[in-house]
Amino acid sequence: MNTLTVNLGKRSYPIYIGSGLIDQAALFQAHLTGEAVYIVSNTTVAPLYAEPLKITLTQLQKQVHLITLPDGELYKDWSHLQTIFDALLQHGADRHTTLIALGGGVIGDMTGFAAASFMRGVQFIQVPTTLLAQVDSSVGGKTGINHPLGKNMIGAFHQPVAVIADLSTLQTLPARELSAGLAEVIKHGAMADADFLNWIEKNAAALLACESKALAYAVLRSCEIKAAVVAADERENNIRATLNFGHTFGHAIEAGLGYGKWLHGEAVGCGMVMAADLSMRLGKIQPAEAARLKQLIHTMGLPTVAPKFGSERYFELMQLDKKTTGGKIRYIVLDQLGAAVIESVPEALVKETLQASGAT
Ligand code: NAD
Ligand code: GLY
Repeated sequence: MNTLTVNLGKRSYPIYIGSGLIDQAALFQAHLTGEAVYIVSNTTVAPLYAEPLKITLTQLQKQVHLITLPDGELYKDWSHLQTIFDALLQHGADRHTTLIALGGGVIGDMTGFAAASFMRGVQFIQVPTTLLAQVDSSVGGKTGINHPLGKNMIGAFHQPVAVIADLSTLQTLPARELSAGLAEVIKHGAMADADFLNWIEKNAAALLACESKALAYAVLRSCEIKAAVVAADERENNIRATLNFGHTFGHAIEAGLGYGKWLHGEAVGCGMVMAADLSMRLGKIQPAEAARLKQLIHTMGLPTVAPKFGSERYFELMQLDKKTTGGKIRYIVLDQLGAAVIESVPEALVKETLQASGAT
């Protein structure tokens, strides 16, 4: 098992990465305070992993409750957040209750937001079961739900008390979800570490084959990169925005198609192709470098051609991005492979990128 720390002073917390961690009572014990524990999961993940987790927590003499939500991005909304609050209140949860998010990024974001707001804040543990959640969404404390007019528009920063990433759970992940997670792995290489990007290219086949050793390193290095960025800029005043490489275009794709049509990671994959194209048009990276990133994204089974909404609609959707300030859309572009920056970009260049990506 590898253990990292997200350094945030009194709110610092460990990320445990290893196989079979759901069965290790001692890992959970160190982070549970009250008597009651609420596992929040969904109809796909609960049948696979809720029972073993319940057994582990019962060994610790905890009262364990399970809240099962429907599965999908479509349900990351107010009414299903309310389902969590209903269950907590009906069963008499109190301020010492711990929530455990057992699932992918949707469950992690919703459980985190429920924990941030229930009784003005209770603690929660992330037990991410998708690659995307293990390499990205479970770390850093961004929690929330979608609004019909924009993704993740309602939420809070609320850090977990621990992240317990059990690599064994990835063995049941559908191939499409594995690819979606690999998009965020590629993102970490592209925005922060060119050596890691080389490693991903060399290990693409092993990653796609779900080989444990390769996945373990991809999760570890991604969490190291993300933990360092979050420790430096928890509230996204500056460099944390670079973790959004590919997301300005990606969120527009997700919202434009309707949530759930493309997976978040798929939209980010295509968004990174577009952001790399834009970086090339700004003269920051070479055409061969943009092509190299596009090839890697394609190799990982991710889309590289943008849905055709037309440039006007793309600009409208991108206006809703949380990085937009004073009506000006800001983009994360690559200064070079392995180094991202946030910039305002001339609209004409963005139009060229939209055209080159199939968006218009
Ligand atoms: P997801 O949570 O929808 O999970 C993907 C699918 O895999 C679901 O059908 C789920 O039930 C299933 N699943 C989960 N674990 C499984 C397992 N071990 N075996 C079999 N099936 C399993 O999607 P995701 O890609 O994990 O997360 C996407 C969400 O994360 C988006 O809502 C996105 O906005 C959010 N996100 C948040 C952050 C953040 O910093 N908070 C970062 C990136 C993404
Ligand atoms: N996924 C982007 C962030 O956590 O900041």
